[in-house]
Amino acid sequence: MRFELSSSTCGEEEKQAIIEVMDSNTYTMGNKVREFEERFAIYFGMKYAVMANSGSSANLIATASLFYKKENPLKRGDEVIVPCISWATTFHPLQQYGLRLKFVDIDLHTLNLDTEELEKAITKNTRMIVAVSILGNPCRFDEIIKLCEENNIILFEDNCESMGAKFNGKYTGTFGLVNTFSTFFSHHISTMEGGLALTNDKEIYNLLKSLRNHGWTRGQDEDSPIFEKRDDDFFEAYRFILPGYNVRPGEIHGAIGIMQLDKLKHFLQIRRKNAEHFVNLFKNDQRFIIQREVGESSWFSFTMIINPDLNIDRKKVLQKLKDADIEHRIITGGNILRHDVIKYYNYEVIKSTNADIAHYNGFFVGNHPYDIRDKIDYLYKTLENI
Ligand SMILES: Cc1ncc(COP(=O)(O)O)c(C=O)c1O
Repeated sequence: MRFELSSSTCGEEEKQAIIEVMDSNTYTMGNKVREFEERFAIYFGMKYAVMANSGSSANLIATASLFYKKENPLKRGDEVIVPCISWATTFHPLQQYGLRLKFVDIDLHTLNLDTEELEKAITKNTRMIVAVSILGNPCRFDEIIKLCEENNIILFEDNCESMGAKFNGKYTGTFGLVNTFSTFFSHHISTMEGGLALTNDKEIYNLLKSLRNHGWTRGQDEDSPIFEKRDDDFFEAYRFILPGYNVRPGEIHGAIGIMQLDKLKHFLQIRRKNAEHFVNLFKNDQRFIIQREVGESSWFSFTMIINPDLNIDRKKVLQKLKDADIEHRIITGGNILRHDVIKYYNYEVIKSTNADIAHYNGFFVGNHPYDIRDKIDYLYKTLENI
């Protein structure tokens, strides 16, 4: 049996949506992207959504927007607290904008920021916390928000792995001043490539729209708070106000997103059923630490960390998985401090003990938006004799 890491979430509806875009002759960002953004914002109970060509680009423009807002903007050299484990492009925009990163350890069971360590790491210089709900599992937003409010710290949520998860009944990706999502293939919904930023702040919303679009004024709200229209159509047509990018999505990606969003609820139900089965099989297995759910996870995948107190060689476990055709990866790219790229960063490390355990002893296997309970049984059997 083959147990894949990921699978397509698209079907006939998405094919039809692509054809409609082709027939309309509008390929570049237009009404479909706008409609997807509006629906996405409503779905998550937020005011504004801005789609980009990836979750990484959403992180880039979200970071940039905080440098260009009028009141109390971020500045180069400001201190930002981040977890040691996340995807590389959670961190890269922060590096590119000259921020100083303070790495805090993760909780070995939830895989998210250890909030006790987080509290210890905060100083009067801390300007922002980037909270990442790892692989569907919500962060402890009650504690994080309390710390942010007490210390006047901006909360940025990279929710690229956790669409549909909830903490205290509220969707992850809605707690931060700005929040990002990925709709890359294999994520909870897919637009092939794509990502979004959500915010309730009108100024940030307009900054995001300009930053994704050359730093241009095209597409700004009539009453945009980030520039004043002048009375000269000729110059207004090509007017640049920010050092932006072109990270726009194509119209096809918006059209697919509209179809996919309708399916999200159903996909989540199935992912959670699969997860129930996985947790039942492995919860009392002393050999592995599996991810402990906080709130309602959207179960991107299933993590397993070999108990560091036991003498089990991960190489042998991974070989067994390979032989059995069970795809697996390091957990969310592992501890970023162990990657070559870290030499380019301005950073300090508070502690990374658990992140290292996850890096050197952990792996994950896929979850899917269809019933994979037989594959989970197969995983269980494959690992039986370790
Ligand atoms: C936490 C996190 N942030 C950002 C990204 C980047 O998203 P994308 O692959 O759409 O660029 C990912 C990718 O999965 C991710 O896991």
